[in-house]
Amino acid sequence: MHLPDYKEARSRSKKEYNRIEFKSNNKIANKYSGKKFFLKTYGCQMNEHDSENIEALLVSLGFSKVDDYNEADLVLLNTCSIRENAHNKAFGMLGRLKHLKSEKRDLLIGLCGCMAQEASVVEEILRDYKFVNFVFGTHNLYQLPNIIDKAIEENEQQIEVFSREGDLVEGLPVIRSNNYKAYVNIIYGCDKFCTYCIVPYTRGRERSRKKEDILTEIRDLINDGYKEVTLLGQNVNAYGKDLYDDYNLGDLLEEIALMGIPRVRFMTSHPWDFTDKMIEVIGKYPNIMPSVHLPVQSGSSKILKRMGRRYTRENYLELFHKIKDTVPGVSISTDIIVGFPGETEEDFLETMSLVEECKYDNAFTFIFSEREGTPACKLEDNTSLAEKEERLQRLNAVVNKYFLENNKKLEGNVLKVLVEGISEKKDMYFGYSETNKLINFNCDRELSAGEIIDVEITSAKTWSLDGKAI
Ligand code: SAH
Ligand code: SF4
Ligand code: F3S
Repeated sequence: MHLPDYKEARSRSKKEYNRIEFKSNNKIANKYSGKKFFLKTYGCQMNEHDSENIEALLVSLGFSKVDDYNEADLVLLNTCSIRENAHNKAFGMLGRLKHLKSEKRDLLIGLCGCMAQEASVVEEILRDYKFVNFVFGTHNLYQLPNIIDKAIEENEQQIEVFSREGDLVEGLPVIRSNNYKAYVNIIYGCDKFCTYCIVPYTRGRERSRKKEDILTEIRDLINDGYKEVTLLGQNVNAYGKDLYDDYNLGDLLEEIALMGIPRVRFMTSHPWDFTDKMIEVIGKYPNIMPSVHLPVQSGSSKILKRMGRRYTRENYLELFHKIKDTVPGVSISTDIIVGFPGETEEDFLETMSLVEECKYDNAFTFIFSEREGTPACKLEDNTSLAEKEERLQRLNAVVNKYFLENNKKLEGNVLKVLVEGISEKKDMYFGYSETNKLINFNCDRELSAGEIIDVEITSAKTWSLDGKAI
């Protein structure tokens, strides 16, 4: 048994990590043929991509996937700790599974992902959720086949969570959920330690993948017909810092753009290390999508300082306008937290005025959620939840106003859309524009997923656009 420990998770060493190649355990390949699994993913793209590896590892054991957990022999929850509601959703699901297990004694239940890295979650599972068969963390996902095999063979709860990141594992099998768009990890972990955030504890220190490994993965994707890659990291702008003296995200983006894949995206960018070279490269290559997710969190420099964000309102706005001025037609989206401890009405109004200035194309807005073990937990907080909810509503009204206003400007324009398929609800084709807008459209001829076509925009909505293929 290995239990998570925050002290260890917080520590950062200069130790070089090893790059190792994943080796499958042939002794247990297909051992569980005929068994079915249900996998539920909470959280960010990183977790979604981890689930693509998990699925392939389960298939290598012989499991096949089902969409209804009632039919499964194994239910695995890939969890997220970012806010309390993500946490509550996973525990709610465990409650339903407890009921199911009382009728189906052989049901295997597992939990992995970020919540598995939290000591308090694992303690709760040991105490109150004894029916959970196994838990593993984000640093040892590759051990899943052996952990499951052991849980079944020994019929004993397996808790295998490492607080410190170990080797960086290359060559994990993957079953991608989309045949045209792929996620590619470029950097793991986060060293920023924003005071509200749990990610640096659940994902470990920043570790970049070697550029050769990334470029090989993308070359293979291009050969398999992929049209779009999204480079993933909690902070992609830190790419390369731990590995190279003089090679960063700007250089990587440029090399990938030159490989000729039609669309390259990247997320998430922390404003702190957004270099001029990056902005220049994004503006220069038409296949690097003009779409930047640039989380601001707050418009008040006082609150930004308390959040440990390393920039002021002014620094942020300067960067924002530099990107807008250099990259033609760029869309910028953001994340905002309201109700951070100590946020006054004046601070909140600064966030509102920043939004009025930036007129974001998209924004994800949240009420501050206290995460155990993070420094923000210890800050005094005098604002009631009702007041925070009211701020969130006011903020959402302004951000929505600008989503619609920006979309309206696109009416009559012709946009390039990567076709995803047919939306059953609307009986129309759908896909995403270069600036990542959801487009529903009609077309006289039959289209295949993965095509990139021109669509004329006929009407704008707040969260999508309608159009007609030309
Ligand atoms: N690495 C990304 C963010 C990943 S988490 C970045 O720094 O930009 C996604 C978003 O969740 C954050 O941008 C933040 O807005 C929100 N978030 C993180 N911790 C939170 C918390 N404790 N309470 C509320 N929102 C939080
Ligand atoms: Fe969390 Fe900040 Fe790291 Fe983003 S940059 S993952 S908000 S600590
Ligand atoms: Fe959640 Fe972990 Fe992602 S906390 S947002 S799943 S890195």
